[in-house]
Amino acid sequence: MSRLVTVSRAAKLAGVSRGNLQKYIRDGVIQSFEGMVRLQDVAEHFPDVNAKPNDILEALEQIMDNAAIKARNRTPTMPPDMETLAARVAILSDELVESKLEISIFYNIIDKLKTRLKQFTDNHPESTAAMRELQGWLLNEVETISDKKFAQYPMIATDTILRLVAAQIRLEPSGHEFFVEGSDSILEAGLSSGLAMNYGCSNGNCGKCKARVISGEVKKIRHHDYVLSEKDKLQGYILSCSNTAVTDLVLEAEEAGNENDIPNQSISAWVRKVTPLNDSVATLNIKTPRTQRLRFLAGQTVNLVISGVGAKTLHVASCPCDDMNLQFHFNHHDSDAFSQYLAQEIKPNDTITVEGPAGHFVLHEDEPNPIVFIAFNTGFAPIKSLIEHALTLDVTEHIQLYWLVPGQDDLYMHNHCRSWADAFELFDYYPLCYDDLDPVELCLDKLNSNNPDTDALTNHHVYIAGSQNDITKTKNALLEQGIPEASIYIEAI
Ligand code: FES
Repeated sequence: MSRLVTVSRAAKLAGVSRGNLQKYIRDGVIQSFEGMVRLQDVAEHFPDVNAKPNDILEALEQIMDNAAIKARNRTPTMPPDMETLAARVAILSDELVESKLEISIFYNIIDKLKTRLKQFTDNHPESTAAMRELQGWLLNEVETISDKKFAQYPMIATDTILRLVAAQIRLEPSGHEFFVEGSDSILEAGLSSGLAMNYGCSNGNCGKCKARVISGEVKKIRHHDYVLSEKDKLQGYILSCSNTAVTDLVLEAEEAGNENDIPNQSISAWVRKVTPLNDSVATLNIKTPRTQRLRFLAGQTVNLVISGVGAKTLHVASCPCDDMNLQFHFNHHDSDAFSQYLAQEIKPNDTITVEGPAGHFVLHEDEPNPIVFIAFNTGFAPIKSLIEHALTLDVTEHIQLYWLVPGQDDLYMHNHCRSWADAFELFDYYPLCYDDLDPVELCLDKLNSNNPDTDALTNHHVYIAGSQNDITKTKNALLEQGIPEASIYIEAI
């Protein structure tokens, strides 16, 4: 019998997005069994996965490299330690023994069945053609077993490596899934996967990341000052910021369901750099302390305060999955004192206070609907954050980005958008320079020519950010086209 694996694991093994695989399931191409799929079905539909032993070693190296890349931005990430590896090898060994026993039992049964069928046909020469056909079918099936084994080999081999270097976590009650690679903390891996898990200090002091292990084995990776009561320990509670996963886990953990679950924060951060991107727009990059990161949802704003200068509300333009490194876009020609100070006087390591977050222009992340993002000019800032979050969550089957600007020079992150389109098969990018044209009409023309099936377009979620006039006009036009109001989200910049 073919192994059942979760959709997340199957997508990782097949090298496609989860959203892409979900589409196969929704279309009935691949059958799902309570959230699981047959490895054999996935191997048949994605035959290009062709791992040979050398490929597997390469895959292992790549996973290790990814861990190293993450290490440059986050807490040092190491490959799994020997104890964790040994525990995972022991589990795989047990499974191997069990599988070998099962196979030998099944072969025994097949041999007996072959003998019984032969005896039956010998003793009953009058036996029907159907019986002879059955005997022939069985012999043929047994002979082709090797071919079938080979078809699944690359995927099973890759899965084995994946199970050695990473553990899969499922959160209850949400059902969200992610992988913990190396010796990352469970919290860090969950946040990097775009999930809004509850936490405070990330450092073992506050207890806000407390979660209950329902099944699986964890390992403490750092000392924590927060004291879990004996009752908590007996019930299986751990701190997700201070433990890694030894085996696959099911965890009961709290997550922010929406923007109302995110606490208001005030964080003293440091300026990393200000970078002009064109004649009018610049980025401001700041870094929070490791123990006081900003919890926010993609698309939200914060209030930035510089002592003695003033304050300004800006959209966070980066992904919540990187909660220490925050990016903002601002117009360096704006005449307010804050923008002028950012443009002319601020220096690396200056202190800046982050207050918030606020706003309701957030991703409706659990819905796999295709997404259309429309950014008018600097409305790109919250859209960028939403896109990065959507790509990290990996649940959407298709994303289209329309960025409307007066001229080519105003596409101040054009290469960044092109790199998304290059890297993600599910992502299409349409930069549109309106010059003397009406930006809304230009956008709608392009949107409709790309999506001629207007019924299909009504299944999309549409996020629009820009001037009040542009977003209202676009929303009204989309409503007239039959897109439900509940599927259109707008943000005035
Ligand atoms: S986040 Fe504070 S103890 Fe884990």
